Amino acid sequence: MTPLVDNYSRQIRYIRLSVTDRCNFRCRYCMPAEGVEWISHDDIMRYEEFLRVVRVFVSRGVEKIRLTGGEPLVRKGLAGFISALKSIEGVNDLSLTTNGVLLAPVARDLRQAGLDRVNISLDSLNRDKFYHITRIDAFEKTQSGIHAALEYGLGPVKINVVAIRGFNDDEINAFAAMTISNPVEVRFIELMPMGCGARFGDGEILDSQEIKGTIESIFGELDPLPGGLGPAKVFRIAGARGSIGLIDAVTDPGFCSRCNRVRITADGHLRPCLFSDQSIDLLGPMRRGISETGLEELIETGIKEKPAGIGAKANPDCMMMMSDIGG
Ligand code: 5AD
Ligand code: SF4
Repeated sequence: MTPLVDNYSRQIRYIRLSVTDRCNFRCRYCMPAEGVEWISHDDIMRYEEFLRVVRVFVSRGVEKIRLTGGEPLVRKGLAGFISALKSIEGVNDLSLTTNGVLLAPVARDLRQAGLDRVNISLDSLNRDKFYHITRIDAFEKTQSGIHAALEYGLGPVKINVVAIRGFNDDEINAFAAMTISNPVEVRFIELMPMGCGARFGDGEILDSQEIKGTIESIFGELDPLPGGLGPAKVFRIAGARGSIGLIDAVTDPGFCSRCNRVRITADGHLRPCLFSDQSIDLLGPMRRGISETGLEELIETGIKEKPAGIGAKANPDCMMMMSDIGG
């Protein structure tokens, strides 16, 4: 097996599949209130097309797959897709990022289909603030989604909190406290100023180091834990069941050097870098009958185009929508 290595010696071991650009939320840092023009049905990757792409990546050493959106649970037939993915030899970590609203009724089925774990977005523990940031009044449903994930073994469950000064900076310690008795990883993500995120000012970005300081001022020094394949730096409050992750995409200049992933959009484009609009169309060539070797070469070309590191801050002009690319 020849691993997929980019021009900067980073091995690609992780792919994120955006199965739909649609979402039932309108998070302020992600989508405009009126929504966006959705990709037309014909231009969306069919599950078989995703599977074809995934097989190439897995044959080249990718072992971790995450399903994203938009909101992945709005796409029909997801459980079937999950079991097909899980049956590919070499896939040993299959996860899903969701806003959690539609999760409770399907958590058990998804677990049975082979989903290993979920990340659930939750930016506030206050119902009104949750409504403000997502523009949808669904706080309770998201809570039920989190409980269902824990109940049906979709763990370790991670809670994604986009940290925003003036919005949820006063809730950092309430989120941190959740990890004391719950086996969850609460991950604070620095607000990335791109797409709709660019509407927020620099002053609203909460630095991960500041978050850590806020937590340590109440809970004492955090113990560092070994991180996984992802970008989070992981810590634990002494004696806690869960953990705390810090994703410093904006403030850590070394963030890009550890990047090990690429993304496939719902319309079948390979996106080598989250912070760049550059993409390589895979779906067009596939529908025109590209061979397996041709597809593999196209993917290799895309990997070689992965930039050294643009950084979240350096490129506020990047117009991509997080909802197109799944974070
Ligand atoms: N900055 C940081 N995180 C973001 N997400 C979406 N847009 C942004 C942004 N501008 C996060 C969501 C979710 C994941 C899919 O991406 O909150 O947790
Ligand atoms: Fe939807 Fe996620 Fe974007 Fe919120 S952040 S609008 S839940 S895709």
